[in-house]
Amino acid sequence: MAKGKQIYEGKAKILYEGPEKGTLIQYFKDDATAFNNKKKAIIDGKGVLNNRISEFLLSQLNQIGIKTHFIKRLNMREQLIKSLEIIPIEVVIRNIAAGTFSNRLGISEGTDLSKPILEFYYKNDELGDPLVNEEHILALNWATQSELMHISEQALRINDFLVGLFRGIGIKLVDFKLEFGRQWNGDEVEIFLADEISPDTCRLWDVKDERKLDKDRFRRDLGGLVEAYQEVARRLGIMPEGSNIKEIKTGVSKNLTALKKK
Ligand code: TMP
Ligand code: ASP
Repeated sequence: MAKGKQIYEGKAKILYEGPEKGTLIQYFKDDATAFNNKKKAIIDGKGVLNNRISEFLLSQLNQIGIKTHFIKRLNMREQLIKSLEIIPIEVVIRNIAAGTFSNRLGISEGTDLSKPILEFYYKNDELGDPLVNEEHILALNWATQSELMHISEQALRINDFLVGLFRGIGIKLVDFKLEFGRQWNGDEVEIFLADEISPDTCRLWDVKDERKLDKDRFRRDLGGLVEAYQEVARRLGIMPEGSNIKEIKTGVSKNLTALKKK
């Protein structure tokens, strides 16, 4: 599918104009960043795995009636998505204490929370995505009251569904981040889940030994990131074409290689 011009480059993805009005192509890079871009690396194969895992999770959410920007996966690194007006809020849902929550409140990592906690962060790299509350969001007009209610309800539904899905494959969903966007139909606004859900944006721990199967392997220099993401894909039953680590790392599909040989 022909890509239009590049319209945005983020830390882990690039957005291009899509083939039709109202669509974009989302390209998954191998770049890994942490601590607001202070730590960087290129990890061969990460983009391929995130593309596939995010496709799977967003498709599952679509099936339970959550509206998402995902239309279809195009190839190993790209997917066709709806073009949305992104709401500048990162919604974090936490089931178990970890990361900045543990650091901020002095609660040991691994402590079960008696109910899921929703947090909002203002999406602004220059400010390091500061924690904000509903009052900030409403007073600064980042979202309306009804949008915020809808987003919070959807986030908790998504959490319920994903906790169960991951539990079924021996993984604890510790916490994760969501982004939402608007689509305007005249004066009516419709909210869609946007961005990605992948081991880059979730904390995933093996139920048996709490082994980390997510981007903390990079943040904390634990190594074995691609192998951990591959493990998540394998358990979800969606290892990319060929299931061959070399192929994943180069991001070239079997079909493409075969075509080139002809
Ligand atoms: P935190 O503990 O660093 O606040 O992260 C909470 C969750 O949100 C964790 O699963 C990682 C995810 N996250 C992102 O996806 N992008 C981000 O920029 C940040 C800060 C966190
Ligand atoms: N993605 C963010 C960054 O690059 C933070 C993180 O995931 O830790 O800096």
